[in-house]
Amino acid sequence: MVLLHSLEELHKWQHQSGWSVRKTCFVPTMGALHEGHVSLIRQASKRGDLLVVSILVNPTQFDKKSDYDAYPVTLEQDVAIAEEAGADAVFAPSAEELYGGIPAASPVDYGPLTQAYEGAHRPGHFDGVVAVVDLLFDAVKPTFAFFGEKDLQQVAVVKRLAEERHPKLEVLVGSLVRDGQGLALSSRNARLDEQGLFAARHLSQTIRQVQSAFAEGASVSEALELGRLQLLERHDVVLEYLDAVDARTFRPFRGQMSDSAYVVIAAQVQDVRLIDNGPLRT
Ligand code: PAJ
Repeated sequence: MVLLHSLEELHKWQHQSGWSVRKTCFVPTMGALHEGHVSLIRQASKRGDLLVVSILVNPTQFDKKSDYDAYPVTLEQDVAIAEEAGADAVFAPSAEELYGGIPAASPVDYGPLTQAYEGAHRPGHFDGVVAVVDLLFDAVKPTFAFFGEKDLQQVAVVKRLAEERHPKLEVLVGSLVRDGQGLALSSRNARLDEQGLFAARHLSQTIRQVQSAFAEGASVSEALELGRLQLLERHDVVLEYLDAVDARTFRPFRGQMSDSAYVVIAAQVQDVRLIDNGPLRT
């Protein structure tokens, strides 16, 4: 496996690997790799000939500098994990290298996909995600790109970007990986202490409550209200939103049932912002 830091190194390696006649799978990440990333990398390793994992903590997608500064960086460990999971190359450029200068992102408006929920609570977040993913797709030129359902709204945004700007590329989605007690794995979990981890489990518990209430006959609104009330009692979980959405459009979902109906939640625990989701019908 090779570790590449510049676009030049990447293109040289691609050329040497016979890139043009092979299928490249691509897993973009911000590093601090955990089992959620590993499951995507393993899935990707079965799909094509060449597997590139990128690692870059992308400054343009953070709305808070403190969040960017606190993001864990563990490159050496990540390279070993990526290799073990089947990567052929880790592409870890500096932001300046990838952006070709000072990193900046233009505004992107895909309607509710970029403006609602994560878009509303993290102004500019999807501008940065679209900017970096577009640059990475241009650099790596993959046949298949893999994204995790953990970031459900990001999946919809990236699919839209691919449709518009990378029509030959196929976006594939990996399922959400949780720990034994239901907590969605996230690089940010490393910033929680034991009490924080206990509190963080209430996100997935709330999703399950909404799912059960809905399965037992409550309307979507009633099921959500129940979930919100339960969370209000907890002072260690600061809820940003709990809603049901159509995962393709990110418009609120209030119908009877659809396979694309998902419960989405974002909350802060010990000042760490966490997100989770699950299908409305289990
Ligand atoms: P990052 O948070 O590092 O996640 C990289 C990929 O791993 C994303 O597609 C994400 O959805 C997936 N992932 C994270 N946690 C997961 C889990 N518990 N189960 C399954 N998949 C999981 O998402 C980003 O980086 C960035 O926004 C990026 C796309 C790299 C652009 O900078």
